[in-house]
Amino acid sequence: MNPDTLAPEQIQKHLHTKWLGQHFYYEESLDSTNNRAKALAQEGAAHGTVVLTEEQVSGKGRMGRGWVTPKGSSIAMTCILRPKFPPQRASMLTLLMGLSVAQACQRQYQLDAWIKWPNDIVVSGKKICGILTEMNAEAEEIHDVVIGVGINGNLTDFPENLRQKATSLQKELGQTILRAPLVAAVLETFEENYEKFCIQEDLSAFMETYNQILINRNRQVRVLKSGETLEGVAHGINSQGELLVEKQDQSMVHIYAGEVSVRGLDDYV
Ligand code: BTN
Repeated sequence: MNPDTLAPEQIQKHLHTKWLGQHFYYEESLDSTNNRAKALAQEGAAHGTVVLTEEQVSGKGRMGRGWVTPKGSSIAMTCILRPKFPPQRASMLTLLMGLSVAQACQRQYQLDAWIKWPNDIVVSGKKICGILTEMNAEAEEIHDVVIGVGINGNLTDFPENLRQKATSLQKELGQTILRAPLVAAVLETFEENYEKFCIQEDLSAFMETYNQILINRNRQVRVLKSGETLEGVAHGINSQGELLVEKQDQSMVHIYAGEVSVRGLDDYV
């Protein structure tokens, strides 16, 4: 039997969590783990349910973009959460998951993993992971949030348009990785971070660690939001997960981690 599958029994061998991943939903192929997670949440799936697949045939990225997950080579995973905090706080979960993935990669492989605010994990200046958070909420109450994580595991090649800005764990480590232990490490790290997050319902406990591995920090960035562009130097995040950008006139702008895109002036980071 192929030891490198994302089947629940493979993950459970490595998993030491209290509630995250107590229920798994796994299929060899799905359109998108986020779509399946949203449907399962509608049907009443428990807080902490995790959806995994070997292949996505219409994986989704941010800003309406696609996300490629070829069979058996990557990690496509979505966590279903039912937080008690107000909907306005949910965007911080993307940052919390980003931090958890970076910490899990550091722990598992001693990799120098960085965060590109708000939702990319970067190794050697190239993207290794993207996160897509989707929420089902009313004004005051969250019904469910799904946090989708796509990690480039054993991908060996990328389409021409991604080659300059995407990489994989296999490329960076020079060897094939086993995906199940990494999934378990990400879930364990996120569970621990989430419990800490819920005490203050913000990122004050994580700001220092987060800002240390924020690749945008002290760099010129271009922020694109709703057709508008802003340029300045990124100084790090605040306790609400907003990116603080100092414009040329020295005014400080707080950027909310919604549907924004952040780039270096010439490069991806
Ligand atoms: C991005 O960087 O644009 C976000 C990419 C998010 C991809 C993951 S893969 C698992 C989950 N299911 C999806 O359809 N998308 C997310």
